[in-house]
Amino acid sequence: MRFAQSPIHLLNLGNVSLLICSVGILAAGCSKPSFEANRLAAASFLESQDQQKVDELAGSVGELVEQVFGPPDAPKWPENAPTAVDMAEVERCAGPVGRAYDKVERGLYRKHCVQCHGITGDGAGPAAALLAPYPRDFRRGTFKFKSTSIGSKPLRSDLVKTIEHGLPGTSMPAFGALRNRPEFEKDIESLAEYVVFLAIRGEVERRLLKRAVDSEETPSLEDAKRVAASVAELWVNASANVVEVPLIPDVPPAEYAASVERGKALFTSDQASCFKCHGNEGKGDGVSQDYDEWTKDWTIRVGIDPASKSEWKVMKPFGALKPVVDRSRNFHLGGLRGGSTEQDIVKRIVLGIDGTPMPAITVSETDPNAFNLENVFDLARYVASLTGVKPETEAATDSGTANSAKGAQ
Ligand code: HEC
Ligand code: HEC
Repeated sequence: MRFAQSPIHLLNLGNVSLLICSVGILAAGCSKPSFEANRLAAASFLESQDQQKVDELAGSVGELVEQVFGPPDAPKWPENAPTAVDMAEVERCAGPVGRAYDKVERGLYRKHCVQCHGITGDGAGPAAALLAPYPRDFRRGTFKFKSTSIGSKPLRSDLVKTIEHGLPGTSMPAFGALRNRPEFEKDIESLAEYVVFLAIRGEVERRLLKRAVDSEETPSLEDAKRVAASVAELWVNASANVVEVPLIPDVPPAEYAASVERGKALFTSDQASCFKCHGNEGKGDGVSQDYDEWTKDWTIRVGIDPASKSEWKVMKPFGALKPVVDRSRNFHLGGLRGGSTEQDIVKRIVLGIDGTPMPAITVSETDPNAFNLENVFDLARYVASLTGVKPETEAATDSGTANSAKGAQ
């Protein structure tokens, strides 16, 4: 296998120089940050921990990706790819923090997100290793809290909701306060564009790495552009994969109590199996606990046991963080990540949580082996009752299908 060497992308300096820049110590002498090559994916696809081999592959693909998407200070959109992001917004988020000649604020991503999500969107910012769960690595192109089916891209409105409201119970903050200042009012939408840019860029890189390993050849610039176009296409068509989420009706108190009871029985039934992961009482202590797809990607997929330090530590030199089990939720702690209203919970049950062990369930009024709508509502009311959020105090943060239509790009 032949791969051109590219030392620039192998230097792990992006975050470090950035940190120094952001605290202003060396403001005058800051070197321009670069996107970091995905060495972990390279090692995983190669099924090798040979540093030189991994660096050669990651470096040559990283260089190609830079030709197509540009460096962090000068992002560009791949030629001939369908327009999946608004580059004017992307440019506003990219680059160093500050105001340009037109007084418009720039560098929003480095101002608000980089310490956790990293300059490359790899979820490995300087603060990452201290956080549980780890910040999201956008480069798989997989998102958890969305209106679309498992395996599909989220809508912009899903990302906007996450950035605006945060993910309760995790370190992902709510940026909703930006809405209170006229000059920052649209920043959340811009940041969502930038997340999509980083996600597309990262997924293109991953696909090119895989392709290089499978074909034992360095991909060409034309290959890179073609891959970029097909990944962009997935984002452009995201709204085709929206799943209709039924609206949960209000019920009178007596009916409500019966519904919660039925939900509890279903929760602990073999048919629904919720208890296997969430435990009999929904405390997140079921027998089945597993890792998420981000972790499995470089462990289980290549035969590494994530629970064994002696096994997983071979991937540490490539940027791997200690694998942590993606425990199922303890509902009694309240503050659910995807929203705590009954409607939010219905949405989670119907859609599942992509990239995690939480499955989507099939709803059908005709198939006796599937769940019907009443079953889903019963389950959602039971789960909501555990969180302590009273139905009458619920704020409608998200209204299923109504929101989906608005979110279509
Ligand atoms: C203090 C750390 C921190 C900061 C700052 C932060 N995030 Fe996050 N973010 C997280 C964590 C942790 C997660 C993963 C939570 C999970 O897995 O449930 C996350 C997840 C996400 C997700 C994925 C949601 C999904 O559905 O999968 C998006 C999108 C996101 N963050 C965007 C941003 C943006 C944009 C900014 C800056 C405006 C930002 N984050 C700032 C910690 C942070
Ligand atoms: C195979 C294991 C598994 C099964 C079975 C399972 N869950 Fe989950 N569930 C999880 C995991 C893991 C998470 C957390 C995923 C994450 O956010 O990373 C989760 C999260 C959730 C959430 C979202 C909480 C939030 O913070 O937004 C809800 C609601 C939920 N589960 C309900 C259910 C219900 C109801 C059932 C049964 C129909 C069920 N789950 C079955 C593993 C499971």
